[in-house]
Amino acid sequence: MKIDRDAPIGVFDSGVGGLTVAREIMRNLPSEKIVYFGDTARVPYGSKSKDTVIRYSRQIIHFLEEQQVKAIVIACNTASAFALDAVKDELDIPVLGVIEAGAKVAAKETRNKRVGVIGTLGTVGSGIHEAYLKQLDPEITVIGKACPLFVPLVEEGWLHDPVTTEIVSRYLQELKDKEIDTLILGCTHYPLIRSTVGRVMGDQVTLVNPAYETALQLKALLAEMDISSSGTGEEDFPYRFYVSDLADEFKDFANSILPYDVSMAKKIDIEKY
Ligand code: DGL
Repeated sequence: MKIDRDAPIGVFDSGVGGLTVAREIMRNLPSEKIVYFGDTARVPYGSKSKDTVIRYSRQIIHFLEEQQVKAIVIACNTASAFALDAVKDELDIPVLGVIEAGAKVAAKETRNKRVGVIGTLGTVGSGIHEAYLKQLDPEITVIGKACPLFVPLVEEGWLHDPVTTEIVSRYLQELKDKEIDTLILGCTHYPLIRSTVGRVMGDQVTLVNPAYETALQLKALLAEMDISSSGTGEEDFPYRFYVSDLADEFKDFANSILPYDVSMAKKIDIEKY
């Protein structure tokens, strides 16, 4: 199949969190167009079963294929953990998750070979980071910690609130006790509380942001496949946003974190796909 280099990149997430990944793609691949889908009607994915997350992901991928995207980025860590393996051979276009790029950088960064991973119950429970990291270096010890309260705190906008510092400290104490020197922010929302996490963990711990690392991996992949955009990125609507519910709320959140003015998000019926 011939892939159109000027087609958009499809990016999807369970909701607003994946905008942290879209943001890194906007910053690092400024001439690429994006079609973003946030599954705001069915969020959260982090507490759902693998089968359900695979079914939701397949529906979204069908929608994105209909939008004629040239590649798909599964921005959601939980969907990457649960669905990437199941869907990647079903597609004619490249599909990337957010786990691999973060794991690679963590394996390179760690000095004492003790890596922490924080994420949803689904992501941490899947053990996927450990599987990747052990493959890269069998001597690495991986310590996972699910932090289910972080997502609602971020969505509430309490990014710099003392309550957030308190909760972050409580969840992360275990990782401090286990003397990790590298921490993967394994959930879409966590880059937004990165400074608090960094303060709690201390300077000696390197934080890995999979959103940024995935954007770089995407850039390399498009170049390698010779399908990078030929455009200048100066089109009127280079970025399109779709959701399964609450389009106005989505738009407000998007405008609070993106370097781009989101004028609308369109609601679609994802159950049709
Ligand atoms: N986007 C999800 C993730 O990165 C967090 C929110 C959810 O649980 O759906 O795992």
